[in-house]
Amino acid sequence: MSDERSLATDRRGAAAHPQLCAGRRARLAEAMARLGGGVAVLPTAPERQRNSDNDHPFRHCSHFHYLTGFDEPQAWLLLEADGRSTLLCREKNLEREIWDGHRVGPAAAPAALGVHEAHPVDALDKIATDKLANAPAVWFPFGVHEGLQARIDGWLATLRERERLGVQPPQAQRDLTPVLAEMRLLKDEHELGTMRRAARISAQAHARAMRFSAAHFRSTQGRGLPEYMIEAELLHEFRRHGAQSPAYGSIVAAGANACVLHYAAGDAELRPGELCLIDAGCELDGYASDITRTFPADGSFSAAQRELYDVVLAAQEAAIAATRPGARKQDAHWAAVRVLAQGMLDSGLLNRDKVGDVESVIDSGAYRAFYMHGTGHWLGRDVHDVGEYLSLDEAPVEQPDGMGGRVVKRPSRVLQPGMVVTIEPGLYVRPAEGVPERFWHIGIRIEDDAVITDNGCELISRDVPVAPREIEALMRG
Ligand code: GLY
Ligand code: MN
Ligand code: MN
Repeated sequence: MSDERSLATDRRGAAAHPQLCAGRRARLAEAMARLGGGVAVLPTAPERQRNSDNDHPFRHCSHFHYLTGFDEPQAWLLLEADGRSTLLCREKNLEREIWDGHRVGPAAAPAALGVHEAHPVDALDKIATDKLANAPAVWFPFGVHEGLQARIDGWLATLRERERLGVQPPQAQRDLTPVLAEMRLLKDEHELGTMRRAARISAQAHARAMRFSAAHFRSTQGRGLPEYMIEAELLHEFRRHGAQSPAYGSIVAAGANACVLHYAAGDAELRPGELCLIDAGCELDGYASDITRTFPADGSFSAAQRELYDVVLAAQEAAIAATRPGARKQDAHWAAVRVLAQGMLDSGLLNRDKVGDVESVIDSGAYRAFYMHGTGHWLGRDVHDVGEYLSLDEAPVEQPDGMGGRVVKRPSRVLQPGMVVTIEPGLYVRPAEGVPERFWHIGIRIEDDAVITDNGCELISRDVPVAPREIEALMRG
């Protein structure tokens, strides 16, 4: 098998490892038992119509897939606190399988997925009602699945009608999300392996886009390069390595478009002398990657671009150094902010006479004129993955709100090995009075994916360079 193919995993994904999902279900059931028991009800995601008789490509619910490895639509998991698991799924149907593809079906599901029992999804109301009879609680993710609360209310109403027969409906409704989110926040080795491969594919896609841009400007005497053509290079690289899709809408921002934080690749043209900001990552077997690189269209940074790029890179390095076990999640942010604020003063983006020194710039939030987002987020099955950002077991304290004010809230969460975060500082300069003109319209972000290890962090997305000289060398080909 070539290097390229070996980046992709077995296409059966987590379903190829039913014991992993069984272990997760067992741990979830134990947590439910510790918290009073009951039955968890978890549907996968709905199918979504795109237009006419076309659907959007189906994407499972991340929670559901984490627990089952099952990626067919119209499926539900019922999990009892004693560990018994029941899958409801589509029945086999030769006619539909000819049109839409293979279905596992209830008969084969227990062996394929390691669940204790499986039934046709049409039996959901009856089976869920039977399982919930006399259960102390019904668990489900609150506020996530449209219509789920109403469906459960229907089951509870049915059970209430049976009270005179000695049946008791669950006395409590419990939110499944915090328990599942805590589990998903700490990745196991299988998950980390998939995330490393996803990040490598994405890094190769970024490198391909850089080379493509340089080759275009070498061969066309400066003809504009539409953003969508660069996006096509990314998508090509994702798919050729087996990634199923982008993990989120790819940002390919030519020049000034980089200052629009949620810009989507469009038909604007990248021109020589401009920077190109790409924020794009693939999803591989249900796991996201999330990489940003900013590179000069024609392969050489200008002095002004380089000056700001070096500030962002130094900010990222400071944030990386602060990303280690025992540090708080927000330490990386404040480390980056400090370097960015100093860079804003040194470059003249901020006028020292007006805003004061670095401490004042941080205290007042003046840095937010050029850096208005956070420095990272949890990464996993979702690009902005689940998991509490604040400490779970510490009392609220007064702290800076990052906008020049104070706020009372729980401290930021302490990092632990197995968590995965992004580290993504940036600078975005819109034209404004007092802002040196040579920086106008420059938008720079550098984003890498980091696994917290026993003594620091492992950057899993560095197969594409960040150092300006290395980017320039790669683009020279
Ligand atoms: N690509 C989304 C983010 O960086 O948060
Ligand atoms: Mn990100
Ligand atoms: Mn990103």
